[in-house]
Amino acid sequence: MKSILPTLLIIMIIMSCTKQKKTQDQTDVTSEIARNDTFKKWWKEGVLYQIYPQSFNDTDGDGFGDFRGVIEKLDYLERLGITMVWMNPFFESPLVDNGYDVSNYKAIHPRYGTMEDFQEMMDGMQARGIKFVLDVVVNHSSNEHEWFKQACSSRDNKYYNYYHWWPAEKGKPPHRHSLFDPEGGWDYVESNNSYYLHTFAEEQPDLNWENPKVRQEVYDIMKFWAEKGVNGFRMDAFQFVSKDTTFPQFPKGHEKDFAKWYGMGPHLHDYLKEMYKEVIEPYNVFAVAEGAGSTFQDAHDLVDADRNELQTAYHFDYVGLSRTLEGYTLSEFKEVFTKWDREFAEEGWLAIFLSNHDNSRLVNRFGNPSPEFRRVSTQMLNTFLLSMRGTPYTYYGDELGMTNIDMPSIEEYVDVSAIGEYGMAKARGEDMEEFMKMLNYNSRENARTPMQWDDSKNAGFTTGIPWKRVNDNYTSINVAAQEKDPNSVLNHFKRMVKLRKDNEVLVYGAYTLLDEDNEEVYSFTRTLDDQKVLVLLNFTDHESEVTLPLIENTGEILINNYEDLVTKANTVNLKPYQAVIISINH
Ligand code: GLC
Repeated sequence: MKSILPTLLIIMIIMSCTKQKKTQDQTDVTSEIARNDTFKKWWKEGVLYQIYPQSFNDTDGDGFGDFRGVIEKLDYLERLGITMVWMNPFFESPLVDNGYDVSNYKAIHPRYGTMEDFQEMMDGMQARGIKFVLDVVVNHSSNEHEWFKQACSSRDNKYYNYYHWWPAEKGKPPHRHSLFDPEGGWDYVESNNSYYLHTFAEEQPDLNWENPKVRQEVYDIMKFWAEKGVNGFRMDAFQFVSKDTTFPQFPKGHEKDFAKWYGMGPHLHDYLKEMYKEVIEPYNVFAVAEGAGSTFQDAHDLVDADRNELQTAYHFDYVGLSRTLEGYTLSEFKEVFTKWDREFAEEGWLAIFLSNHDNSRLVNRFGNPSPEFRRVSTQMLNTFLLSMRGTPYTYYGDELGMTNIDMPSIEEYVDVSAIGEYGMAKARGEDMEEFMKMLNYNSRENARTPMQWDDSKNAGFTTGIPWKRVNDNYTSINVAAQEKDPNSVLNHFKRMVKLRKDNEVLVYGAYTLLDEDNEEVYSFTRTLDDQKVLVLLNFTDHESEVTLPLIENTGEILINNYEDLVTKANTVNLKPYQAVIISINH
Protein backbone atom coordinates (compact mmCIF):
# COMPACT_ATOMS: atom_id res chain seq x y z
CA MET A 1 0.00 0.00 0.00
CA LYS A 2 1.20 3.48 -0.80
CA SER A 3 1.69 6.07 1.91
CA ILE A 4 -1.10 8.40 2.78
CA LEU A 5 -1.16 12.20 2.65
CA PRO A 6 -2.70 14.49 5.31
CA THR A 7 -6.43 14.08 5.64
CA LEU A 8 -8.80 16.88 4.81
CA LEU A 9 -6.53 19.66 6.02
CA ILE A 10 -6.12 20.85 2.50
CA ILE A 11 -9.82 21.30 1.99
CA MET A 12 -10.16 23.08 5.27
CA ILE A 13 -7.43 25.56 4.45
CA ILE A 14 -8.74 26.48 1.03
CA MET A 15 -12.23 27.36 2.21
CA SER A 16 -12.60 31.03 1.32
CA CYS A 17 -15.96 32.62 1.39
CA THR A 18 -17.04 35.31 -0.95
CA LYS A 19 -20.73 36.06 -0.56
CA GLN A 20 -21.49 39.67 0.35
CA LYS A 21 -22.28 40.85 3.84
CA LYS A 22 -25.98 41.14 4.62
CA THR A 23 -27.22 44.51 5.76
CA GLN A 24 -30.62 43.70 7.29
CA ASP A 25 -31.13 43.82 11.04
CA GLN A 26 -30.54 40.25 12.14
CA THR A 27 -32.59 40.53 15.33
CA ASP A 28 -35.84 41.33 13.56
CA VAL A 29 -35.36 38.82 10.81
CA THR A 30 -34.55 35.96 13.15
CA SER A 31 -37.39 36.66 15.57
CA GLU A 32 -39.80 36.51 12.70
CA ILE A 33 -38.31 33.33 11.28
CA ALA A 34 -38.22 31.63 14.66
CA ARG A 35 -41.91 32.27 15.12
CA ASN A 36 -42.55 30.42 11.92
CA ASP A 37 -43.19 26.79 12.72
CA THR A 38 -41.90 25.47 9.43
CA PHE A 39 -38.50 26.92 10.34
CA LYS A 40 -38.38 24.97 13.59
CA LYS A 41 -36.94 21.47 13.33
CA TRP A 42 -35.83 18.86 15.84
CA TRP A 43 -32.38 18.74 14.28
CA LYS A 44 -31.97 22.47 14.83
CA GLU A 45 -33.02 22.18 18.46
CA GLY A 46 -30.86 19.13 19.13
CA VAL A 47 -27.49 18.73 20.80
CA LEU A 48 -25.40 16.19 18.93
CA TYR A 49 -22.82 13.87 20.47
CA GLN A 50 -20.36 12.10 18.20
CA ILE A 51 -19.32 8.55 19.09
CA TYR A 52 -16.22 6.95 17.63
CA PRO A 53 -17.40 3.40 18.25
CA GLN A 54 -14.07 1.63 18.41
CA SER A 55 -12.97 3.85 21.29
CA PHE A 56 -16.13 4.20 23.35
CA ASN A 57 -16.67 1.08 25.44
CA ASP A 58 -15.59 -2.54 24.97
CA THR A 59 -17.64 -5.36 26.48
CA ASP A 60 -16.07 -8.47 24.95
CA GLY A 61 -12.48 -7.77 25.91
CA ASP A 62 -11.09 -7.61 22.36
CA GLY A 63 -9.79 -4.08 22.93
CA PHE A 64 -12.25 -2.45 20.50
CA GLY A 65 -15.42 -0.67 21.48
CA ASP A 66 -18.69 -2.34 20.50
CA PHE A 67 -22.46 -1.80 20.33
CA ARG A 68 -23.06 -3.60 23.60
CA GLY A 69 -20.60 -1.18 25.12
CA VAL A 70 -22.73 1.72 23.94
CA ILE A 71 -25.84 -0.06 25.24
CA GLU A 72 -24.16 -0.24 28.63
CA LYS A 73 -23.69 3.53 28.52
CA LEU A 74 -27.13 4.55 27.31
CA ASP A 75 -28.03 6.00 30.69
CA TYR A 76 -24.83 8.03 30.58
CA LEU A 77 -25.89 9.47 27.24
CA GLU A 78 -29.30 10.27 28.64
CA ARG A 79 -27.75 11.98 31.66
CA LEU A 80 -25.67 14.16 29.35
CA GLY A 81 -28.92 15.50 27.96
CA ILE A 82 -27.78 15.16 24.38
CA THR A 83 -30.53 14.46 21.86
CA MET A 84 -28.67 13.16 18.80
CA VAL A 85 -25.82 10.71 18.26
CA TRP A 86 -23.69 10.57 15.14
CA MET A 87 -21.69 7.37 15.10
CA ASN A 88 -18.66 6.90 12.85
CA PRO A 89 -18.83 3.93 10.41
CA PHE A 90 -19.25 0.41 11.76
CA PHE A 91 -19.96 -1.44 8.50
CA GLU A 92 -18.08 -4.40 7.12
CA SER A 93 -14.69 -3.08 6.10
CA PRO A 94 -11.03 -4.07 5.73
CA LEU A 95 -10.41 -1.02 7.98
CA VAL A 96 -7.70 0.63 5.92
CA ASP A 97 -9.21 3.98 6.90
CA ASN A 98 -10.88 2.79 10.10
CA GLY A 99 -14.18 1.95 8.46
CA TYR A 100 -14.32 4.78 5.91
CA ASP A 101 -13.64 2.03 3.38
CA VAL A 102 -16.82 -0.01 3.30
CA SER A 103 -16.96 -3.49 1.77
CA ASN A 104 -20.62 -4.14 2.61
CA TYR A 105 -22.94 -1.26 3.41
CA LYS A 106 -25.68 -3.44 4.83
CA ALA A 107 -23.57 -5.52 7.20
CA ILE A 108 -21.99 -4.76 10.55
CA HIS A 109 -18.27 -5.32 11.12
CA PRO A 110 -18.24 -8.26 13.58
CA ARG A 111 -16.05 -6.44 16.06
CA TYR A 112 -18.96 -4.07 16.78
CA GLY A 113 -21.53 -6.85 17.20
CA THR A 114 -24.56 -7.97 15.23
CA MET A 115 -27.46 -6.28 13.49
CA GLU A 116 -29.60 -7.21 16.51
CA ASP A 117 -27.13 -5.41 18.78
CA PHE A 118 -27.30 -2.41 16.50
CA GLN A 119 -31.08 -2.36 16.64
CA GLU A 120 -31.10 -2.70 20.40
CA MET A 121 -28.59 0.13 20.72
CA MET A 122 -30.55 2.46 18.44
CA ASP A 123 -33.89 1.56 20.01
CA GLY A 124 -32.36 2.24 23.41
CA MET A 125 -31.27 5.67 22.29
CA GLN A 126 -34.61 6.50 20.78
CA ALA A 127 -36.43 5.35 23.91
CA ARG A 128 -34.35 7.99 25.70
CA GLY A 129 -35.21 10.73 23.24
CA ILE A 130 -31.92 10.45 21.34
CA LYS A 131 -32.01 10.41 17.54
CA PHE A 132 -29.49 8.36 15.56
CA VAL A 133 -27.39 9.76 12.70
CA LEU A 134 -25.68 7.27 10.39
CA ASP A 135 -22.37 7.96 8.63
CA VAL A 136 -22.90 7.31 4.90
CA VAL A 137 -19.62 6.75 3.05
CA VAL A 138 -20.61 6.64 -0.61
CA ASN A 139 -18.18 8.88 -2.44
CA HIS A 140 -16.10 5.70 -2.52
CA SER A 141 -16.34 2.08 -1.47
CA SER A 142 -13.59 -0.23 -0.31
CA ASN A 143 -11.57 -1.97 -3.02
CA GLU A 144 -12.77 -5.14 -1.31
CA HIS A 145 -16.41 -4.36 -2.03
CA GLU A 146 -17.93 -7.01 -4.31
CA TRP A 147 -18.80 -4.28 -6.85
CA PHE A 148 -15.17 -3.31 -7.21
CA LYS A 149 -13.88 -6.86 -7.35
CA GLN A 150 -16.32 -7.60 -10.17
CA ALA A 151 -15.52 -4.32 -11.91
CA CYS A 152 -11.85 -5.27 -11.96
CA SER A 153 -12.58 -8.62 -13.58
CA SER A 154 -13.48 -7.27 -17.01
CA ARG A 155 -14.77 -4.23 -18.86
CA ASP A 156 -17.88 -6.24 -19.77
CA ASN A 157 -18.79 -6.84 -16.19
CA LYS A 158 -21.98 -5.02 -15.17
CA TYR A 159 -20.19 -3.39 -12.25
CA TYR A 160 -17.42 -1.90 -14.40
CA ASN A 161 -19.37 1.34 -14.71
CA TYR A 162 -19.91 1.55 -10.97
CA TYR A 163 -16.46 3.18 -10.82
CA HIS A 164 -14.49 5.73 -12.83
CA TRP A 165 -12.08 4.15 -15.29
CA TRP A 166 -9.55 5.42 -17.79
CA PRO A 167 -8.82 2.79 -20.48
CA ALA A 168 -5.06 2.30 -20.65
CA GLU A 169 -5.01 2.31 -24.49
CA LYS A 170 -5.74 6.04 -24.25
CA GLY A 171 -2.39 6.49 -22.52
CA LYS A 172 -1.90 7.84 -19.00
CA PRO A 173 -4.94 9.60 -17.50
CA PRO A 174 -4.80 13.36 -16.81
CA HIS A 175 -3.35 13.89 -13.35
CA ARG A 176 -5.78 13.81 -10.47
CA HIS A 177 -4.73 14.64 -6.93
CA SER A 178 -5.47 12.19 -4.13
CA LEU A 179 -5.94 13.44 -0.58
CA PHE A 180 -4.34 10.32 0.84
CA ASP A 181 -2.06 8.96 -1.87
CA PRO A 182 1.14 10.82 -2.79
CA GLU A 183 1.27 8.96 -6.09
CA GLY A 184 -1.94 10.56 -7.29
CA GLY A 185 -5.57 9.66 -7.79
CA TRP A 186 -5.34 6.96 -10.49
CA ASP A 187 -4.23 3.34 -10.08
CA TYR A 188 -3.82 0.71 -12.77
CA VAL A 189 -5.66 -2.64 -12.80
CA GLU A 190 -4.15 -5.23 -15.09
CA SER A 191 -7.17 -7.52 -15.43
CA ASN A 192 -9.23 -4.85 -17.19
CA ASN A 193 -6.34 -2.78 -18.48
CA SER A 194 -7.76 0.43 -16.97
CA TYR A 195 -6.91 3.02 -14.36
CA TYR A 196 -9.46 3.68 -11.60
CA LEU A 197 -9.94 6.95 -9.77
CA HIS A 198 -9.62 7.41 -6.01
CA THR A 199 -9.91 10.76 -4.26
CA PHE A 200 -8.71 9.19 -1.01
CA ALA A 201 -6.51 6.08 -0.50
CA GLU A 202 -5.97 3.61 -3.32
CA GLU A 203 -8.12 1.17 -1.33
CA GLN A 204 -11.02 3.65 -1.61
CA PRO A 205 -12.10 3.70 -5.29
CA ASP A 206 -14.55 6.51 -6.15
CA LEU A 207 -18.05 5.37 -7.05
CA ASN A 208 -19.40 6.60 -10.37
CA TRP A 209 -22.46 8.65 -9.44
CA GLU A 210 -22.98 9.52 -13.09
CA ASN A 211 -24.28 5.97 -13.42
CA PRO A 212 -27.98 6.01 -12.35
CA LYS A 213 -27.63 2.43 -11.10
CA VAL A 214 -25.00 3.53 -8.59
CA ARG A 215 -27.30 6.26 -7.33
CA GLN A 216 -30.12 3.75 -6.94
CA GLU A 217 -27.76 1.50 -4.96
CA VAL A 218 -26.94 4.45 -2.70
CA TYR A 219 -30.62 5.28 -2.12
CA ASP A 220 -31.26 1.62 -1.52
CA ILE A 221 -28.58 1.57 1.19
CA MET A 222 -30.01 4.70 2.79
CA LYS A 223 -33.54 3.26 2.67
CA PHE A 224 -32.28 0.03 4.24
CA TRP A 225 -31.06 2.00 7.26
CA ALA A 226 -34.00 4.41 7.28
CA GLU A 227 -36.30 1.40 7.51
CA LYS A 228 -34.37 0.25 10.55
CA GLY A 229 -35.24 3.61 12.03
CA VAL A 230 -32.20 5.89 11.69
CA ASN A 231 -33.19 9.54 11.92
CA GLY A 232 -30.50 11.17 9.87
CA PHE A 233 -27.44 10.78 7.68
CA ARG A 234 -24.01 12.34 7.76
CA MET A 235 -22.85 12.41 4.15
CA ASP A 236 -19.12 11.65 4.09
CA ALA A 237 -17.07 13.48 1.44
CA PHE A 238 -20.26 13.80 -0.64
CA GLN A 239 -19.21 17.04 -2.33
CA PHE A 240 -16.79 15.12 -4.55
CA VAL A 241 -19.33 12.70 -6.04
CA SER A 242 -20.11 14.49 -9.30
CA LYS A 243 -17.30 14.71 -11.82
CA ASP A 244 -16.63 15.90 -15.33
CA THR A 245 -16.09 12.39 -16.68
CA THR A 246 -14.20 13.62 -19.73
CA PHE A 247 -11.43 14.20 -17.18
CA PRO A 248 -9.91 17.35 -18.67
CA GLN A 249 -6.38 18.39 -17.74
CA PHE A 250 -6.27 20.56 -14.62
CA PRO A 251 -3.62 23.29 -14.31
CA LYS A 252 -0.47 22.63 -12.29
CA GLY A 253 -0.92 23.41 -8.60
CA HIS A 254 -4.71 23.32 -8.86
CA GLU A 255 -4.91 20.96 -5.87
CA LYS A 256 -4.18 23.88 -3.54
CA ASP A 257 -7.79 24.84 -4.24
CA PHE A 258 -9.05 21.31 -3.84
CA ALA A 259 -12.70 22.03 -3.06
CA LYS A 260 -12.98 24.24 -6.14
CA TRP A 261 -11.50 21.73 -8.60
CA TYR A 262 -12.83 18.53 -7.11
CA GLY A 263 -15.91 19.58 -5.18
CA MET A 264 -19.38 20.69 -6.27
CA GLY A 265 -19.21 18.95 -9.65
CA PRO A 266 -21.59 19.60 -12.55
CA HIS A 267 -24.50 17.36 -11.45
CA LEU A 268 -24.12 17.42 -7.69
CA HIS A 269 -27.33 19.37 -7.09
CA ASP A 270 -29.35 17.13 -9.40
CA TYR A 271 -28.17 14.10 -7.47
CA LEU A 272 -28.91 15.64 -4.10
CA LYS A 273 -32.39 16.65 -5.22
CA GLU A 274 -32.96 13.11 -6.41
CA MET A 275 -31.73 11.78 -3.06
CA TYR A 276 -34.06 14.17 -1.27
CA LYS A 277 -37.05 12.89 -3.23
CA GLU A 278 -36.07 9.25 -2.90
CA VAL A 279 -34.99 9.14 0.75
CA ILE A 280 -34.88 12.33 2.79
CA GLU A 281 -38.46 13.45 2.22
CA PRO A 282 -40.33 10.12 2.25
CA TYR A 283 -38.52 8.85 5.34
CA ASN A 284 -38.64 12.23 7.07
CA VAL A 285 -34.95 12.12 7.95
CA PHE A 286 -32.30 14.81 7.75
CA ALA A 287 -28.81 14.93 6.28
CA VAL A 288 -25.75 16.84 7.31
CA ALA A 289 -23.15 17.62 4.67
CA GLU A 290 -19.44 17.03 5.30
CA GLY A 291 -17.83 20.04 3.68
CA ALA A 292 -19.75 22.85 2.08
CA GLY A 293 -18.02 23.88 -1.15
CA SER A 294 -15.80 26.92 -1.36
CA THR A 295 -18.18 29.85 -1.01
CA PHE A 296 -21.13 30.84 1.15
CA GLN A 297 -23.26 30.50 -1.95
CA ASP A 298 -22.13 26.88 -2.34
CA ALA A 299 -23.07 26.18 1.27
CA HIS A 300 -26.49 27.79 0.85
CA ASP A 301 -27.13 25.90 -2.35
CA LEU A 302 -26.59 22.67 -0.46
CA VAL A 303 -28.75 23.25 2.57
CA ASP A 304 -31.35 26.00 2.16
CA ALA A 305 -34.82 24.65 2.81
CA ASP A 306 -36.28 25.65 -0.55
CA ARG A 307 -33.51 23.74 -2.34
CA ASN A 308 -34.75 20.33 -1.14
CA GLU A 309 -31.25 18.89 -0.93
CA LEU A 310 -29.38 18.54 2.39
CA GLN A 311 -30.28 20.25 5.67
CA THR A 312 -27.18 21.25 7.64
CA ALA A 313 -23.85 22.67 6.48
CA TYR A 314 -20.75 21.34 8.20
CA HIS A 315 -18.02 23.56 6.78
CA PHE A 316 -14.35 23.40 7.70
CA ASP A 317 -13.56 27.05 8.40
CA TYR A 318 -13.82 26.59 12.18
CA VAL A 319 -11.40 23.70 12.43
CA GLY A 320 -9.12 25.32 9.87
CA LEU A 321 -8.08 27.61 12.76
CA SER A 322 -5.31 26.67 15.16
CA ARG A 323 -3.54 24.28 12.83
CA THR A 324 -0.06 25.26 13.96
CA LEU A 325 1.64 25.30 17.33
CA GLU A 326 1.28 29.10 17.36
CA GLY A 327 -2.46 28.62 17.76
CA TYR A 328 -4.98 31.24 16.72
CA THR A 329 -6.02 34.77 17.61
CA LEU A 330 -9.37 35.53 19.16
CA SER A 331 -10.13 38.01 16.38
CA GLU A 332 -9.77 35.24 13.77
CA PHE A 333 -11.98 33.01 15.85
CA LYS A 334 -14.68 35.66 16.24
CA GLU A 335 -14.49 36.55 12.60
CA VAL A 336 -15.01 33.05 11.32
CA PHE A 337 -18.02 32.34 13.53
CA THR A 338 -19.51 35.78 12.98
CA LYS A 339 -19.26 35.74 9.21
CA TRP A 340 -20.85 32.31 8.94
CA ASP A 341 -23.62 33.29 11.32
CA ARG A 342 -24.29 36.46 9.36
CA GLU A 343 -24.55 34.54 6.13
CA PHE A 344 -26.93 32.01 7.65
CA ALA A 345 -29.06 34.42 9.68
CA GLU A 346 -32.05 34.20 7.38
CA GLU A 347 -31.84 30.85 5.65
CA GLY A 348 -29.92 27.61 5.91
CA TRP A 349 -28.56 25.98 9.05
CA LEU A 350 -25.06 25.30 10.40
CA ALA A 351 -23.36 22.68 12.52
CA ILE A 352 -21.25 24.27 15.29
CA PHE A 353 -18.17 22.27 16.23
CA LEU A 354 -14.48 22.60 17.01
CA SER A 355 -13.45 18.97 17.14
CA ASN A 356 -14.17 15.58 15.58
CA HIS A 357 -12.46 12.29 14.71
CA ASP A 358 -10.26 14.00 12.09
CA ASN A 359 -8.76 16.57 14.46
CA SER A 360 -6.85 16.59 17.73
CA ARG A 361 -8.56 17.37 21.03
CA LEU A 362 -10.69 20.46 21.65
CA VAL A 363 -8.82 21.67 24.73
CA ASN A 364 -5.38 21.27 23.14
CA ARG A 365 -6.25 23.22 20.04
CA PHE A 366 -8.57 25.89 21.34
CA GLY A 367 -8.15 25.94 25.12
CA ASN A 368 -5.40 25.41 27.65
CA PRO A 369 -4.56 21.79 28.56
CA SER A 370 -2.30 22.68 31.52
CA PRO A 371 -3.50 21.18 34.83
CA GLU A 372 -4.27 24.66 36.12
CA PHE A 373 -6.57 25.70 33.28
CA ARG A 374 -7.78 22.53 31.57
CA ARG A 375 -11.05 22.44 33.49
CA VAL A 376 -12.05 26.07 33.12
CA SER A 377 -10.87 26.47 29.54
CA THR A 378 -12.82 23.38 28.41
CA GLN A 379 -15.88 24.67 30.23
CA MET A 380 -15.46 28.00 28.47
CA LEU A 381 -15.27 26.30 25.06
CA ASN A 382 -18.29 24.13 25.79
CA THR A 383 -20.21 27.23 26.88
CA PHE A 384 -19.34 28.76 23.54
CA LEU A 385 -20.31 25.72 21.44
CA LEU A 386 -23.62 25.36 23.24
CA SER A 387 -24.57 29.02 23.07
CA MET A 388 -24.03 29.70 19.37
CA ARG A 389 -26.74 29.55 16.74
CA GLY A 390 -26.50 26.25 14.83
CA THR A 391 -26.63 22.66 16.06
CA PRO A 392 -23.75 21.98 18.48
CA TYR A 393 -21.65 18.87 17.75
CA THR A 394 -19.71 17.54 20.75
CA TYR A 395 -17.08 14.88 20.19
CA TYR A 396 -16.93 12.10 22.80
CA GLY A 397 -14.55 12.92 25.63
CA ASP A 398 -14.75 16.67 25.13
CA GLU A 399 -17.50 16.72 27.74
CA LEU A 400 -14.72 15.68 30.17
CA GLY A 401 -11.91 17.78 28.75
CA MET A 402 -10.00 14.72 27.49
CA THR A 403 -6.63 15.79 26.12
CA ASN A 404 -4.18 14.87 23.38
CA ILE A 405 -2.02 11.86 24.06
CA ASP A 406 1.71 12.48 23.92
CA MET A 407 3.13 10.41 21.02
CA PRO A 408 6.59 11.75 20.17
CA SER A 409 7.69 8.65 18.26
CA ILE A 410 6.34 7.54 14.88
CA GLU A 411 6.50 3.87 15.94
CA GLU A 412 3.41 4.34 18.04
CA TYR A 413 1.17 5.66 15.27
CA VAL A 414 -1.35 3.34 13.64
CA ASP A 415 -3.38 5.78 11.50
CA VAL A 416 -2.61 5.31 7.82
CA SER A 417 -2.67 9.04 7.35
CA ALA A 418 -0.02 9.72 10.02
CA ILE A 419 2.27 6.97 8.79
CA GLY A 420 1.94 8.14 5.21
CA GLU A 421 2.58 11.77 6.08
CA TYR A 422 5.74 10.74 7.89
CA GLY A 423 7.05 8.85 4.87
CA MET A 424 6.30 11.78 2.58
CA ALA A 425 8.00 14.31 4.83
CA LYS A 426 11.09 12.12 5.07
CA ALA A 427 11.24 11.75 1.29
CA ARG A 428 11.05 15.54 0.94
CA GLY A 429 13.98 15.87 3.35
CA GLU A 430 11.98 17.81 5.92
CA ASP A 431 13.23 18.52 9.45
CA MET A 432 11.79 15.38 11.07
CA GLU A 433 12.03 16.75 14.59
CA GLU A 434 9.78 19.64 13.60
CA PHE A 435 7.53 17.27 11.70
CA MET A 436 7.03 15.02 14.73
CA LYS A 437 6.22 18.04 16.90
CA MET A 438 3.46 19.01 14.49
CA LEU A 439 2.18 15.45 14.13
CA ASN A 440 2.08 15.04 17.89
CA TYR A 441 -0.04 18.18 18.14
CA ASN A 442 -2.26 17.72 15.10
CA SER A 443 -2.67 13.99 14.52
CA ARG A 444 -6.21 12.69 14.52
CA GLU A 445 -5.04 9.77 16.67
CA ASN A 446 -5.08 12.22 19.57
CA ALA A 447 -8.85 12.18 19.40
CA ARG A 448 -9.25 8.44 19.06
CA THR A 449 -7.91 7.27 22.43
CA PRO A 450 -10.27 5.19 24.60
CA MET A 451 -12.99 6.95 26.50
CA GLN A 452 -12.01 7.53 30.12
CA TRP A 453 -14.77 6.04 32.26
CA ASP A 454 -13.07 5.58 35.62
CA ASP A 455 -9.66 5.14 37.29
CA SER A 456 -9.56 1.35 36.99
CA LYS A 457 -7.20 -0.40 34.56
CA ASN A 458 -7.54 0.95 30.99
CA ALA A 459 -9.89 3.63 32.28
CA GLY A 460 -12.70 1.06 32.41
CA PHE A 461 -12.74 0.97 28.61
CA THR A 462 -11.72 -2.68 28.22
CA THR A 463 -10.63 -5.71 30.20
CA GLY A 464 -8.37 -6.67 27.29
CA ILE A 465 -5.57 -4.79 25.55
CA PRO A 466 -6.94 -1.50 24.20
CA TRP A 467 -6.42 -1.02 20.44
CA LYS A 468 -4.96 2.37 21.29
CA ARG A 469 -3.07 3.35 24.43
CA VAL A 470 -5.27 4.98 27.06
CA ASN A 471 -4.17 8.51 27.94
CA ASP A 472 -2.13 8.40 31.19
CA ASN A 473 -4.24 11.14 32.69
CA TYR A 474 -7.28 8.82 32.98
CA THR A 475 -6.74 8.45 36.73
CA SER A 476 -7.75 12.06 37.19
CA ILE A 477 -9.80 12.78 34.05
CA ASN A 478 -12.66 10.29 33.99
CA VAL A 479 -16.44 10.10 34.10
CA ALA A 480 -16.73 8.53 37.57
CA ALA A 481 -14.67 11.27 39.22
CA GLN A 482 -16.36 14.06 37.31
CA GLU A 483 -19.87 12.83 38.02
CA LYS A 484 -19.15 13.30 41.72
CA ASP A 485 -17.65 16.76 41.38
CA PRO A 486 -20.23 19.53 40.94
CA ASN A 487 -17.59 21.81 39.39
CA SER A 488 -16.33 19.29 36.85
CA VAL A 489 -16.22 19.82 33.10
CA LEU A 490 -18.83 17.07 32.82
CA ASN A 491 -21.35 18.64 35.19
CA HIS A 492 -20.86 22.01 33.57
CA PHE A 493 -21.48 20.41 30.18
CA LYS A 494 -24.74 18.89 31.43
CA ARG A 495 -25.85 22.23 32.89
CA MET A 496 -25.05 23.95 29.63
CA VAL A 497 -26.99 21.38 27.57
CA LYS A 498 -29.99 21.84 29.85
CA LEU A 499 -29.74 25.61 29.61
CA ARG A 500 -29.81 25.42 25.84
CA LYS A 501 -32.73 23.02 25.80
CA ASP A 502 -34.70 25.19 28.24
CA ASN A 503 -34.09 28.45 26.40
CA GLU A 504 -35.19 28.75 22.80
CA VAL A 505 -33.23 31.98 22.60
CA LEU A 506 -30.02 29.90 22.54
CA VAL A 507 -31.33 27.90 19.59
CA TYR A 508 -33.10 30.41 17.39
CA GLY A 509 -32.10 33.78 18.82
CA ALA A 510 -30.19 36.26 16.68
CA TYR A 511 -26.48 36.48 17.35
CA THR A 512 -24.85 39.88 17.71
CA LEU A 513 -21.13 40.29 18.23
CA LEU A 514 -20.12 42.99 20.73
CA ASP A 515 -16.76 44.58 21.46
CA GLU A 516 -15.36 43.14 18.25
CA ASP A 517 -11.77 44.32 18.72
CA ASN A 518 -11.33 42.88 22.19
CA GLU A 519 -8.52 40.32 21.77
CA GLU A 520 -9.19 38.62 25.11
CA VAL A 521 -12.92 38.42 25.66
CA TYR A 522 -15.56 37.16 23.25
CA SER A 523 -18.87 38.92 23.97
CA PHE A 524 -22.11 38.41 22.12
CA THR A 525 -25.83 38.47 22.66
CA ARG A 526 -28.56 36.11 21.55
CA THR A 527 -31.98 37.69 21.13
CA LEU A 528 -35.37 36.16 20.49
CA ASP A 529 -38.46 38.35 20.75
CA ASP A 530 -38.27 39.87 24.24
CA GLN A 531 -35.59 37.52 25.56
CA LYS A 532 -31.96 38.57 25.40
CA VAL A 533 -28.91 36.91 26.91
CA LEU A 534 -25.33 38.10 27.09
CA VAL A 535 -22.48 35.61 26.66
CA LEU A 536 -19.05 36.61 28.01
CA LEU A 537 -16.05 34.34 27.44
CA ASN A 538 -12.53 35.06 28.59
CA PHE A 539 -10.19 33.28 26.19
CA THR A 540 -7.05 34.05 28.23
CA ASP A 541 -5.20 32.58 31.22
CA HIS A 542 -5.40 35.88 33.14
CA GLU A 543 -8.09 38.18 34.42
CA SER A 544 -9.63 40.39 31.81
CA GLU A 545 -12.08 43.24 31.98
CA VAL A 546 -14.89 43.91 29.60
CA THR A 547 -16.90 47.13 29.50
CA LEU A 548 -20.25 47.22 27.73
CA PRO A 549 -23.27 49.52 28.25
CA LEU A 550 -25.47 46.41 28.32
CA ILE A 551 -23.83 45.18 31.51
CA GLU A 552 -25.79 47.77 33.53
CA ASN A 553 -28.98 45.90 32.57
CA THR A 554 -27.83 42.41 33.40
CA GLY A 555 -30.17 40.21 35.43
CA GLU A 556 -29.90 36.57 36.40
CA ILE A 557 -26.65 34.71 35.87
CA LEU A 558 -27.74 31.64 33.91
CA ILE A 559 -24.41 29.82 33.97
CA ASN A 560 -20.96 30.53 35.32
CA ASN A 561 -17.89 28.31 35.52
CA TYR A 562 -16.68 30.17 38.64
CA GLU A 563 -18.50 30.74 41.94
CA ASP A 564 -18.86 34.47 41.49
CA LEU A 565 -18.78 37.25 38.96
CA VAL A 566 -17.16 40.58 39.66
CA THR A 567 -19.33 43.33 38.16
CA LYS A 568 -19.16 47.06 38.69
CA ALA A 569 -21.55 49.35 36.80
CA ASN A 570 -20.94 48.53 33.13
CA THR A 571 -17.76 46.50 33.65
CA VAL A 572 -17.19 42.84 34.36
CA ASN A 573 -13.89 41.49 35.55
CA LEU A 574 -13.56 37.94 34.27
CA LYS A 575 -11.25 35.36 35.83
CA PRO A 576 -9.02 33.20 33.57
CA TYR A 577 -11.23 31.40 31.05
CA GLN A 578 -14.33 32.51 32.90
CA ALA A 579 -17.52 31.90 30.91
CA VAL A 580 -20.88 33.36 31.87
CA ILE A 581 -24.29 33.73 30.33
CA ILE A 582 -26.44 36.44 31.87
CA SER A 583 -29.99 37.45 31.07
CA ILE A 584 -30.59 41.05 30.08
CA ASN A 585 -33.46 42.98 31.69
CA HIS A 586 -35.54 45.34 29.64
C1 GLC B 1 -14.04 11.87 5.77
C2 GLC B 1 -13.83 11.26 7.15
C3 GLC B 1 -12.41 10.83 7.29
C4 GLC B 1 -12.10 9.83 6.21
C5 GLC B 1 -12.42 10.40 4.82
C6 GLC B 1 -12.40 9.35 3.76
O1 GLC B 1 -13.38 13.05 5.63
O2 GLC B 1 -14.21 12.20 8.13
O3 GLC B 1 -12.17 10.28 8.57
O4 GLC B 1 -10.75 9.48 6.28
O5 GLC B 1 -13.71 10.96 4.78
O6 GLC B 1 -13.59 8.61 3.79
